[in-house]
Amino acid sequence: MAYENLLFEVEGKVALITMNRPKALNALNNAILADLNNALSEIAGNDQIKGAIITGAGEKSFVAGADISQMATYTPDESRVYMAYAQQIFNRIEAIEKPIMAAVNGYALGGGNELCMACDFRYASETAVFGQPEVSLGIMPGFGGSQRLPRLVNPGIAKELLLSGRNVKADEALKIGLVSKVCAPADLIPESKKIMATIVSKPAHSLRYCKVSVNRGMDTDLYKAIGLELELISLCFSYEDQKEGMKAFLEKRPAQFKS
Ligand code: CAA
Repeated sequence: MAYENLLFEVEGKVALITMNRPKALNALNNAILADLNNALSEIAGNDQIKGAIITGAGEKSFVAGADISQMATYTPDESRVYMAYAQQIFNRIEAIEKPIMAAVNGYALGGGNELCMACDFRYASETAVFGQPEVSLGIMPGFGGSQRLPRLVNPGIAKELLLSGRNVKADEALKIGLVSKVCAPADLIPESKKIMATIVSKPAHSLRYCKVSVNRGMDTDLYKAIGLELELISLCFSYEDQKEGMKAFLEKRPAQFKS
């Protein structure tokens, strides 16, 4: 598929999506959102792709937010259509049953922070800056930020950040649990590829059920969620790769997974 506003590469079993609209620091207008949506379809529909990394082009920005010039004159109805479109795309990142991580290389503000929060986990460059500055524009987050931020970090910290619009640098993002690793800028993509190589070496059904179990389980009460886990773990035992994984352990050799 041809993309105008992002780069799409596949290396081994991992797709690398690079948000690429440098003149606006990769801000999310309708065109780049449509490209992202198509890239997600490519990831979901291609069995050779087992996982993906989303990053931003250039050294300065991951994604600097929703496109302010596009939405500045919106009516409430127009804003609703735009926000719903982006929400639906970000929800797809969670719904696709393959791991998708964010490699945050610079500004992840507003919709940019919301994009990386929709991913399964985040690595950050030392130069990354995270924030939800919407209150300074007279709005609030609209791409899921007021819901995903308090689910990822302590709700009090989330509210402090949402209400003040204060940015956090990579070291603070690590401290509050927004990212799981901070890398030197040059190491961000290599380190992201390294963890994804480890992840995609595992059986596809294990990856799928881990993601589904966490995402669906977090939306329900503990005992229903543990019930879901029970269904999924039992299903694991129907796969050849489970037999191989356990046989290989008992035979003290590396497993040769098929999926
Ligand atoms: N939308 C549209 N254009 C943007 C943009 C955005 N979110 N962020 C940056 N740009 C554009 C700038 O307008 C500028 O374009 P011109 O060269 O044509 O003037 C270009 O990108 C470079 O930006 P700056 O000159 O501002 O670069 P800087 O280094 O001085 O500052 C920055 C970088 C701190 C990220 C600053 O650009 C900034 O504050 N951007 C806006 C961040 C923001 O408020 N994001 C939230 C948007 S609202 C949102 O996302 C709501 C939601 O949940 C739906």
